[in-house]
Amino acid sequence: MWRSITINLADLLFSVSEAMDLSDPSLVDHQIRTAYVSSELAQAAALNHHDAERLFTAALLHDIGALSPEEKLGIHMHEDLRPEPHCQRGGTLFREAFWLAPAADIIDWHHTPYAVHREHGRSLSDASVTEAQMLLLGDVLERSVDRNRFILHQLDGLRARIRKLSGTLLHPDLVLLFEQVAKREEFWLELVSRDLSRHLRERSLLRFINIDYPAARAVAGVLKDITDFRSRFTAAHSTGVASCARQIAEVLHFSGKDLQQIELAGFLHDIGKLVVPNSILCKPGMLSPQEYAVVRQHPFYTHRILARVRGFEQIAEWASCHHERLDGSGYPAQLDRHSLDLGAKVVAVADVAAAIAERRPYRDPGGQQAVLTALQDMSVKGLLEPTIVEALADRYNQIMDNVHAAQADDEQRYQARYAQFS
Ligand SMILES: [Fe+2]
Ligand SMILES: [Fe+2]
Ligand SMILES: [Fe+2]
Ligand SMILES: [Fe+2]
Repeated sequence: MWRSITINLADLLFSVSEAMDLSDPSLVDHQIRTAYVSSELAQAAALNHHDAERLFTAALLHDIGALSPEEKLGIHMHEDLRPEPHCQRGGTLFREAFWLAPAADIIDWHHTPYAVHREHGRSLSDASVTEAQMLLLGDVLERSVDRNRFILHQLDGLRARIRKLSGTLLHPDLVLLFEQVAKREEFWLELVSRDLSRHLRERSLLRFINIDYPAARAVAGVLKDITDFRSRFTAAHSTGVASCARQIAEVLHFSGKDLQQIELAGFLHDIGKLVVPNSILCKPGMLSPQEYAVVRQHPFYTHRILARVRGFEQIAEWASCHHERLDGSGYPAQLDRHSLDLGAKVVAVADVAAAIAERRPYRDPGGQQAVLTALQDMSVKGLLEPTIVEALADRYNQIMDNVHAAQADDEQRYQARYAQFS
């Protein structure tokens, strides 16, 4: 009997939150800072632990529905930009995963003005309204901080800004609560501290929940969606890589736990693309050398995000080495056949196979001949492991039929809910 994997959910949420905000200097730690302000308000309001944890989870990933760095930046800089689409998409994404679903309403409402709640007869006695308002206050405050000025020189302006929103955007009681919190200089110094993320992790505002494989798979599914749904051409890419890698690993007699890990590695292998802007990621033509360099950093960030999650050590390695090549010509670490693990080599083959079989802006999807010719060519050149390429070639139709079946669900969800946004 093999043991199932368990991972630490809090580690994963912190890690993804940070990664989402790495794409522009003005966004760094935006969600973590917002989560901090929300948690200080929750503490001042004596919210129970369950509600405080739910709010914190929502705040850490509150802009998850803004699928590109450009959209995140737009919402961050421009008040008048319509924020609803990213709220709705974020709420929908949260509802897909059991551990995130309880916070979905908060994501839906994180830009909803108090006046609108009032029109709809919703009051602060509804916990999700209270929490969404706390998140909104944290978000507005964080976006108003001038990152180039000493924080204690900005207090009057920041407090006045929040006070001005009382009764319209924010519930007056919440603004009064904020006034209490904002009296402490410590609150402000902590907000802009470089160590804020580490402090929050140590204060364990989230329980360190070990989740099992089905739960990890559901959360990884959401993260896969935010990676792949940025373009119709990649909407089902990571699902394809996961399915292909898992099936090849079965042929190679991987254990049950390793099959789970290789599937998750497939789901998450391109998560580092969170730092790459859409203008480059979705560019229809050839990339310039400068643009290509920006794309090439993504496996480095895949490793950065996953390696910090307890329980994900193996997955981090397999996922982040998918552009390494056996002769050491890959990236980002230039590892070679001796230092690459079998699982990493499997994901690399699956990534190439899935990518060639998908449509791209500049070409039709590759059929069996195109995929196998490319793989065998790379195998002959000493880039990909020949035994793995053979394992796929021997069962090509069976494996790729399953890959396409797995991808059909993603294609359908993408078309139904996200296509209009990309
Ligand atoms: Fe937002
Ligand atoms: Fe935000
Ligand atoms: Fe990649
Ligand atoms: Fe990929």
